[in-house]
Parts: sequence; C-alpha cells; structure tokens
Amino acid sequence: MIAAPTVDGEAINPLRAGLPPSDRIEEPCSIVFFGASGDLFKRMLLPAVYSMRLNGTLPTDFALVGFARTTYDDDGFREYCRAQLDAFMPDDKKPEGSVWDDFARRIRYIAADFKDTADFVKLKNLLARNDEEFGTGGNHLFYLATPPPVFPEVVRHLKNAGLDARDDGAGWTRIVVEKPFGIDLESAQALQREIEKVFPEAAVYRIDHYLGKEPVQDIIALRFANTIFEPIWNRNYVQNIQITAAESIGVEERGGYYDHAGALRDMIQNHVINLLALVAMEPPVSSHADDIRNEKSKVLSAISPAAYDEVADISARGQYGPGVIDGQPVKGYRQEDAVAPDSNTETFAAVRFCIDNWRWSGVPFCLRSGKRLARKVSEIVVTFKPIPHRFYGASTDDIEPNLLVIKIQPDEGIAMRFEAKVPGPKDHVRSVYMDFNYGTGFGVVSPPAYERLIGDAIRGDQTLFTRWDAVERAWQLVTPILDVWTSSKDFSFPNYAAGSQGPPSAVKLFPDWRQL
Ligand code: BG6
Repeated sequence: MIAAPTVDGEAINPLRAGLPPSDRIEEPCSIVFFGASGDLFKRMLLPAVYSMRLNGTLPTDFALVGFARTTYDDDGFREYCRAQLDAFMPDDKKPEGSVWDDFARRIRYIAADFKDTADFVKLKNLLARNDEEFGTGGNHLFYLATPPPVFPEVVRHLKNAGLDARDDGAGWTRIVVEKPFGIDLESAQALQREIEKVFPEAAVYRIDHYLGKEPVQDIIALRFANTIFEPIWNRNYVQNIQITAAESIGVEERGGYYDHAGALRDMIQNHVINLLALVAMEPPVSSHADDIRNEKSKVLSAISPAAYDEVADISARGQYGPGVIDGQPVKGYRQEDAVAPDSNTETFAAVRFCIDNWRWSGVPFCLRSGKRLARKVSEIVVTFKPIPHRFYGASTDDIEPNLLVIKIQPDEGIAMRFEAKVPGPKDHVRSVYMDFNYGTGFGVVSPPAYERLIGDAIRGDQTLFTRWDAVERAWQLVTPILDVWTSSKDFSFPNYAAGSQGPPSAVKLFPDWRQL
C-alpha cells in the first residue's frame, strides 16, 4: 500500500503533496515604485506586494517607497494605498488589523519632479534612512511603472544621484522595467543604450507578466520533465502550433495608449512571442536563468523577419466594429474614448512564422491576439500529424488529429485530444479529451503573476524576465509587419464584429484556428 503523504508527521491532502510551504524571501529590501500614483500600481503592484505580506512571502525587513508626481505626504499616500487595497483586494484580504498597521508604517512617499536630480537625491537619503529604520540592508529594487517615455529620464537621474547598479556586499540595486520596452526597434535600442549605461544586464528585470503565469512556467516541466512528449515534439509528428491570446474586453480607458500601439505591439511582440520561444526552444542544459534564456534567444534567431512583399502572406489584421458581448451591445473601436474616429490601428493581429532549424523545418507557428473577441482565452495548441493509414472508422466518421492544448487562462491546465471508439457494434470513432486542471490537480489557486515576478526580482532570479537579446529579436520579427501596416491603410476596417471570432483574413491565413 502507498503511504499517505505527511508533513512533520501530519497527514496532508494528497493533492497538495510536493507543494512547498510558502517560503519567506530572506533578502531584506526597499522597493521603490516610480509611477506610484498610476493605474498599474494600484490595480496590480500594490495588491501583489500586500498579498505577499499576507501569505508570508515578503521579507520581514521590508519598506515600500512611492515616487510620483501627485502631491501626497507619507500619511496621505498610506491612506491612498489603503483605499486602493480596499477596492482591489478580495474580501478576505482587506487591509486591516496589525498586518496592515505594520505594512503601513513601512510606506514612504516622495512627490517628485522626474526631471530634477534633487528629488532622486532625496530618494537616496530616504533609502539610507529605511536601511537604518527597517533593516533593509542596502538592497534597493527600483520598479519602473511610469509611462514608458519617462523610463530613460528615471534611469539617468538614478545615476546622477548615485543610485546606479551596485552589488558590493553592502547591498544590491536592481531595476524592474515594465512593458512596453520601446515602441519599435529603434526606440527599444535607444532605451537599452540608456539602461546599460547605468545597469548591467544582471541587474535588469524586464517584466512580461505572462511569464509569471503558472501554466506558462509549466511549459518547461511538460516538455522536459516527461518522457512522452519530447520525442514527438518536432516536424516529424507536429502538423502546426497555434498560440492564442484572445480577450473579450475592449480598450477600456486605455484608448489613448492603445491607438498608438495596436495588437501587434501590445501583445504579439512580447507575451505571444515569449510563449512561442518556450514552446519551441531546445532543451536547456540546466534550469539556470541564462541557460533557459540562451535557448529562447536561439530559437527566435532561427525565425527570419519577413521581407516587405511577404507581409501580406504571413499576417492578418483586424479592427472591431460594434457587436455583442455577453448579451450586451458594445461599441466599435472607432467609437471608443481617445481613439481617432478614422483610426487604422489594429485590435487584432495574426502572424504565421516558420522556424528554420532542424526540429521545426516546415511547421507553421500561427499566433493571434485581439480585443473584443468571443471570449477571453489564452492557450497553445499543438496539432499532431494525421494518421498515416485509415482502416478504422472508415465510415463517415472523420478521424481528427491529436491535439495537445496548454491552457493558460481562464482554465489552467493541459488537455489531450485523441480518438476513441464509440460504444456499440460499429467501428465508429469520436474525439475525447484527457483533461488536467491545476485547481483540481493540486488543490490550490495559482498565485497572480505579479506576486511571483516581484518575488523573483527580490530573490535575484532572472529566469522569468526577458533578456535584451530576446526583446530585440522580437522587435526585429514584428518590424516589417509594423512598417507595412503603418504605411498602408486597411480600408476594410472595421472588419470584425465585437464578440466574434475575428476577421475573415485570419482564417485565410490559417484555416484551423480553434473556436474561441
Ligand atoms: C497587457 C496589455 O500587457 O496584457 C493589455 O497591455 C492586455 O492590453 C493585457 O489587456 C492582457 O493580460 P491578461 O493577463 O489579462 O491576459
């Protein structure tokens, strides 16, 4: 008989076997949030840090500094933080009691002019005081959550104020850079030049929150902790791979940003290409951050950027018009706030890439992402080749190819589709699924991506952060498409209704998309 799993002699729920206790991060530190009065801070970053405090992962010796234009004193900013946590945390995690009191006393604020070195000198002095008062050990994590045009300015002033990179035994300095990393290849390269004057690559943490999602991290385990998948993970068995990041929401209050970005820049250049790299890379020699990131870069370098005259063949763009989502009528993109009434910005992008290497020669990788589609779903679908000879189910039944679906959200797990005999005397077959879900498999809810990523930045683990060579390559891959789309208007826009499967041109590009 197999013994029930135990921890310290106590029997535990078998589903939870192997789950680590929630480990407190040992490194003390101050985190400085540049742009702390903005949307990302209140919706994502502050809740992530507070939730880490609640679940015991945040270091005991910790301080949080808000640095932004809005005028607050320390108490005013504490009140602001409390109100945001009240609004954005679930009922069982509201800010109250001694946990909140302790968290609040560690909060400081600097109302700053990003153009003035003097405010960064104030920050330097404050960090020194935090080190004394809260034992933060000279460790400083700078989180850039400002609008991207401000990034280079912040980095320059950090240097002027003597807050540049350090890892000298008396503490470290690291910088977390939010996306978008540039708005095109040139601006990304310019930003990188500014950053590398001040911070070496080992101190730069470029966030792509998709990499913090648990099922995305599981891609590596699925591929390299099992014997059964890797032997068939190549051109001999795989017909195509499709990667979808679909949303049912529109641009919400972000029309001003989005109308200058579009789906290719907003989602494909970063999140979706990162998924492609993980699913297609070669086995890394170890789980060390750079061994994994070397393989991701290598596989991206095996994709050739399209020539301008190939762009129409390998891509499709769309823009939503009015439609219906969840039974409610919704407006079209051109009617959204802060969007030009004749906007040519794409809210849907699809691209077909080929990876020119030994493993993937001839296998299409089809990527799509869009807003106001039929439902929110992110998944990777590996479609295997058809059976070589059909003698079974030779009636009217269609024998479907096997599929492996990596479900990223809203469901999290892995599903495998295969053919099974329909019960009864006839030799009919039908597709069935084997379905693994994280929630039921492990009995836990995956932590939000930002908690994992902020924790890793404090620990100094860069595995889930994108290295500059991969960011640059991703820009090189989308640049020809961006250039063609910017220089030629699509007169069919709007070409899909909100709530639909996307534009017909996407089906022309790749007829086998999974139904959303
Ligand atoms: C962000 C994009 O990076 O990702 C947004 O800027 C998008 O436009 C969001 O809505 C999607 O993230 P998620 O985790 O909801 O899929």
